[in-house]
Amino acid sequence: MNPNLHLILEEADQAIQRRSINGYRGRVRCGVDLGTAYVSLFVLTEDNQPLVGTYTYAEIVRDGLVVDFGGAVDLVRKMKAEIEERLGFELHSAATAYPPGVPLTEVRATRYVLEAAGLNCSALVDEPTAANAVLEVDNGAVVDIGGGTTGIAVVQDGRVIYTADEATGGTHFTLVISGALKIPFAEAEARKINPAEHPRLFTLVRPVMEKVGSIILNHIQPFDVECIYLVGGTSAFSGIERVIESVTGIKTIVPGNPLFVTPLGIAMNDQLS
Ligand SMILES: Nc1ncnc2c1ncn2[C@@H]1O[C@H](COP(=O)(O)OP(=O)(O)OP(=O)(O)O)[C@@H](O)[C@H]1O
Ligand SMILES: [Mg+2]
Repeated sequence: MNPNLHLILEEADQAIQRRSINGYRGRVRCGVDLGTAYVSLFVLTEDNQPLVGTYTYAEIVRDGLVVDFGGAVDLVRKMKAEIEERLGFELHSAATAYPPGVPLTEVRATRYVLEAAGLNCSALVDEPTAANAVLEVDNGAVVDIGGGTTGIAVVQDGRVIYTADEATGGTHFTLVISGALKIPFAEAEARKINPAEHPRLFTLVRPVMEKVGSIILNHIQPFDVECIYLVGGTSAFSGIERVIESVTGIKTIVPGNPLFVTPLGIAMNDQLS
């Protein structure tokens, strides 16, 4: 695993806060993650240090498919402008990603969003492969539990040998909380992303965590997986790794703040021209 992982995830947090950069004039790598819950844009130095980043809640993608093309373009254009302001120079290209298993025709829509927003799409990678650009796992399973989907990649000798994607993610956690507590979705979402609420909500969402665990197990069973690495925003729910570990019987870890792993990995895939 990447020995600098914690450092780079801390730097990603700082990149979100950074209002301007002082003097960096080298080449940059840019990545756009069009997620079901969050759309994020990160810019790294050419040696992969996070410079600036931003993310926002948006409902423009469902199950990996762009369902609001115009909304997605407007949002990426806005985020690009904000980031350019903070950088002090323009961005011309970016990498982006898709959940494994999405048909190629749909993947193309993701590319078109970037192009319509003024970014040349330099690379299009699947999400767990992007995540592994950051994690640098040699052997194991990388599982991205996002808002809408859970993406699974089995890595052997540093190479992704199997990918899958299933439509269960953080939105289901929110729906369960909203239903159980009889509160609106937005209120349930706000409670869920507050770590102080996690102990109280744990018993409500545990069955969804178990479902995610059995989805993971179904996909990785044919392989000899020693460790599961959880990324994606939903992996930030306290205690999720214990549930996944008990369902799968496989050691499971959440490496630092899991929210930015895939977005950073996408940016690392931006090819410098
Ligand atoms: N601290 C937290 N605790 C629990 N859940 C969280 C936390 N922070 C964010 N989330 C959840 O993580 C999800 C967003 O994660 P992420 O950005 O990885 O997904 P996405 O990329 O938008 O979705 P997908 O990959 O499925 O298209 C949302 O459901 C959000 O509620
Ligand atoms: Mg995602």
